Amino acid sequence: VIIITLAVTLTLTLRHNTDQLKPIFIDRCKKFSRNDCEKIWDVFKQAYVGKDPCEVPMEAYDPLIAAAPFKPQCNRMMFWSKTKNLVHKFTANRDCFLTLEDMLLGSVLDGLTWCGKEGSSETFTTGCPGWSECENNPVRSFWNRASAALADVACGDVTAMLNGSITTPFSPTSVFASIEVKRFNATKMKRLNVVLVTQKNAVTNCTNASLKDLQKELDKGIKYNCTEVTEFQIEECSDHPEKPCGSCW
Ligand code: APR
Repeated sequence: VIIITLAVTLTLTLRHNTDQLKPIFIDRCKKFSRNDCEKIWDVFKQAYVGKDPCEVPMEAYDPLIAAAPFKPQCNRMMFWSKTKNLVHKFTANRDCFLTLEDMLLGSVLDGLTWCGKEGSSETFTTGCPGWSECENNPVRSFWNRASAALADVACGDVTAMLNGSITTPFSPTSVFASIEVKRFNATKMKRLNVVLVTQKNAVTNCTNASLKDLQKELDKGIKYNCTEVTEFQIEECSDHPEKPCGSCW
């Protein structure tokens, strides 16, 4: 009896796991008024199901990016690093800028965890490797691939909101530095506008050493500009969406 109970509980737990991600994915996807969400889910799933969760490279998501490509949003694209909550409050409240997480794939998978298992066709949402546990995990590889795809189509004037409360706002290990900046292309992109978010006791300003590295990394021909903006100003703008986009900094 004990063994049967354990077996049943285990089976139910696994089934439960399997069913968790898909409804969230489909639900969030439908908010973008698309009728191919089931198709996108199937392509997404192929990237990691049945695989060792430490052996899912970025390229596994190539078919997903091809099925739901990023539309270039010239002059409205907002990249960021270490400013997640602030930047998303800002972009959610007004129409000036769009981050990856405001677009279909980023929005659908933001905050979620998933992985597969060798010899299984299921999707798991618990017991998956953490961000740094192994490099080629399904979650990290997705964000790397999606970030690369978005950076590939960056065009016109591009903005990046960086954190001026840390000593290295342009951190070499961040997705922004290690993937996005490397793919910005001067044939499409005119300028990078850094918005450095500062607080009262700012430890960093636009003369920061890591920002010098950022300028060196940029494709020749992309112009660069940096503006120090207080967190209060950004909050003010988030709370007052009627203010024109150009008035926030
Ligand atoms: N552990 C867990 N999650 C992490 C980790 C980590 N060590 N590092 C990054 N992440 C995930 C988290 O979801 C985190 O909120 O990436 C997010 C952003 O991490 P940051 O270091 O703040 O920024 P960065 O690595 O530069 O990535 C942001 O990538 O999402 C794209 O286009 C987006 O420009 C943006 C950039």
